[in-house]
Amino acid sequence: VSIRTKLALVLCAGIMAATAACAFVFIGLQRGSLRRAERERTTLLLDSVRQMADESLLAKDPLMLLDYLEFLRTSRPELTHCRVRVGGAWQELGGKPYPGSERDVERRTVTAVSHGDGRAAAEVEVLLSKAVLVERERTAMEAMVRDTTRACAIILLIGLLAAALLSIPMTRRIVEIEETISAIAEGRLGAVSETAGSDEISRLGRGVNAMSKKLKEVEQLKKTFVASVTHELRSPLGAIEAQVKDILSEESGLGARGKDALSRIRKNASRLEHFVSNLLEVSKIERGQLDYRPRTAELGPIVEDTVLFFEPRAKEGELKLSAAIEPGLPRLTLDPDLITQVLTNFISNALKFTRGGGSIKVSAHRVQAAAPGVECVVEDSGVGIPKEALARVFAPFERVRNPLRATGAGLGLSISKAIIEQHGGTVAVRSELGRGSRFSFTLPLPQADPKPV
Ligand SMILES: Nc1ncnc2c1ncn2[C@@H]1O[C@H](COP(=O)(O)OP(=O)(O)OP(=O)(O)O)[C@@H](O)[C@H]1O
Ligand SMILES: [Mg+2]
Repeated sequence: VSIRTKLALVLCAGIMAATAACAFVFIGLQRGSLRRAERERTTLLLDSVRQMADESLLAKDPLMLLDYLEFLRTSRPELTHCRVRVGGAWQELGGKPYPGSERDVERRTVTAVSHGDGRAAAEVEVLLSKAVLVERERTAMEAMVRDTTRACAIILLIGLLAAALLSIPMTRRIVEIEETISAIAEGRLGAVSETAGSDEISRLGRGVNAMSKKLKEVEQLKKTFVASVTHELRSPLGAIEAQVKDILSEESGLGARGKDALSRIRKNASRLEHFVSNLLEVSKIERGQLDYRPRTAELGPIVEDTVLFFEPRAKEGELKLSAAIEPGLPRLTLDPDLITQVLTNFISNALKFTRGGGSIKVSAHRVQAAAPGVECVVEDSGVGIPKEALARVFAPFERVRNPLRATGAGLGLSISKAIIEQHGGTVAVRSELGRGSRFSFTLPLPQADPKPV
């Protein structure tokens, strides 16, 4: 789940909890005020009855009070019964029998005092229906809860929308920093993200930018170092090798021990020279300075020549090296030197990783895949490569542990891959541990020339 979604969910949950809590408190408060309002209504009713009783006593007209009570009985549904005592006897209003039970009613008595003697001269008893009062409160509560729920739903919707919209700008910088780190991990050193502001996220962004810049500098330093060191090493190494070769070929009067030592020096110098040359090649590829001179040429003769070159070594190692080139292969756009280098890498690997008695087959043929081209395959019956290491073999300095203890720096295949990619082609490998490997590259057919108009 992305940080954006998480933040939106957290904000949503917060808004929902806050809205629910507010609604809860609001409903509680409203219930209290509804009850107070109901009590006030009753008090006002009784006050008006008392006032009317006073006035009717003053006017000595009991009918005034009776009429007023009759009016109240019809206009106020909670008032179920009334009775009046003027001068000793209770007088009932309305046709319904006066209820004896106090369970369903609230009894209220109003006493009016004659202004002359101060004694109670009129007494009014009203019965208020509990059912009507409860029903009225319930209806009012329901309406209030309904309105509150609607208001909450609207607030919630606005809140959720705001949370979704807010989570985007809030996480934008984090997402940007994460993208920068991914870019650095993919090798795009020097990638930077925006770092305006002074909060923790900005500081994190500045840290990542500084790290990216530093990595680029270190990378640059490494490239320059490798390029200059390899360049400086190559010429003396070549000179040593040539000199030793000369001395060995001359009648220099060296004894068997001296010759043996010199040939070991030559072997090691040549190994070192191979490594330095590869390193120089890698450094050229990294700087985009590969010496690539394409021209239209045939692949067949290049394959044949390279196989021929390796024949003595194959014989020496008791290996069967054969070539099978499909006749009539189309001409391709390629750099013969670089393609020879790739084939040399593939075949020398096959020779290195195949035990005596094994075989190496080199072939070239047309392929009709999505992009038609010519495929060149070097297949051996050697030690093979474990499945888990296959994906890595084309990476620089990648070497797989092998039972033949063959040496190498692990650069040949990465150089080969870069060369083939420079030609617009692809490399591939299939291998089975203990049974052999099949390395191949495919070069595309040259683009057809546009027809003259
Ligand atoms: N034909 C093969 N059979 C088995 N393993 C192979 C074969 N070709 C390559 N590999 C494995 O892939 C690794 C990388 O090969 P690569 O050619 O890049 O390096 P290298 O041969 O070890 O050294 P370098 O080519 O730089 O002298 C080898 O070390 C080896 O483990
Ligand atoms: Mg190699």
